[in-house]
Amino acid sequence: MLEEIKSIEIITPDDWHLHLRESPLIEKVFPYTFTKFGKAIIMPNLKNPIIRLSQAHEYYKKIKSLIIPGYNFEPLMTLFLSEETRLKDIYDGVKSGTISAIKFYPQGVTTNSYGGVKDLSKMYNLLEKLPDLNIPLLIHGETTNSKVDIYDREAYFLEETVSKLIEKIPELKIVLEHITTKDSVDFILENNSNIAATITAHHLILNRNNLFDEGLRPHYYCRPIAKREEHRMAVRNAATSGNSKFFLGTDSAPHLDKNKESACGCAGIFSAPNALGYVAQVFEEESALDNLENFISINGAKFYNLSLNSTLSKFTKFKEAIKYPSKIEVGKELITVFNPGYPLYWKNEIVGEKNLIKEKF
Ligand code: DOR
Ligand code: ZN
Repeated sequence: MLEEIKSIEIITPDDWHLHLRESPLIEKVFPYTFTKFGKAIIMPNLKNPIIRLSQAHEYYKKIKSLIIPGYNFEPLMTLFLSEETRLKDIYDGVKSGTISAIKFYPQGVTTNSYGGVKDLSKMYNLLEKLPDLNIPLLIHGETTNSKVDIYDREAYFLEETVSKLIEKIPELKIVLEHITTKDSVDFILENNSNIAATITAHHLILNRNNLFDEGLRPHYYCRPIAKREEHRMAVRNAATSGNSKFFLGTDSAPHLDKNKESACGCAGIFSAPNALGYVAQVFEEESALDNLENFISINGAKFYNLSLNSTLSKFTKFKEAIKYPSKIEVGKELITVFNPGYPLYWKNEIVGEKNLIKEKF
């Protein structure tokens, strides 16, 4: 029996940025999410990106079919912004309740983004329609200009693309995904309430030195790449502050080991099995456990105008380290689970319906 040190009960969390992939990966990675989260924004960058509403419907059905009875998980589907994107798919998708957001990948910026948009100004006509539908544009915020140093690409992108977009369509709701810099934190705070940001567990923990700890660490490589320590601290302060503009998006992004441990390794960190535990640990380290519920369970739903989950989750700190798989198997292949290099002491589980636990609500 593990020895409990402390525990808190909060509304069951959501993941506002998640990659589930397709068979055979999805069957292996998804249980780590539907057993711990109430909802998640599902990224559309499949090999064949989710551009049409019919593709989103199919993907939604596939995801739903994998949920074990007893879990109430809801996948929130997104469409991949491309020059082929049709307004009708967006309208119909939002009206039918299938589509919760549109995702913009600058062309070629990361995994399966070759069909992304090169020049966002070409899409302004379409983006102008989003405010009426009350759904946000989710932005992978890095320039694809290879002359810009990779560590500066997020900051550069704010001026190059995001500022112009806000100036042109100030009513557009925007989520700047997986922010990694002080520049982005300041940008979010300086702009109006239509812009918010997701933050990953790994960017709260890693700085750019960790990529080279005693050698090259392919399992710490993701996009945007981890930045200097001062940036990590700025992002950490933003997350733990409780400010409603910041919420958890794990960006859990599984790739087979053979594709990461390679001469040209893929970007992505698979953190679904332990992201929530490590986030709780970060909040404890920052003496900010009172703000954990805002960051993982409240702020995102409020920004998206969605209801809070109806269940509670118990987060418990144990005296002994929590075991989690270091790798998961997919047929003969493996996927490495995020390991920050120090033990995990926090574990969480869904414990029941909110209305059964009267004293809190
Ligand atoms: O590291 C990343 N991996 N960043 C992204 O933006 C995409 C993701 C993926 O799909 O692998
Ligand atoms: Zn992502």
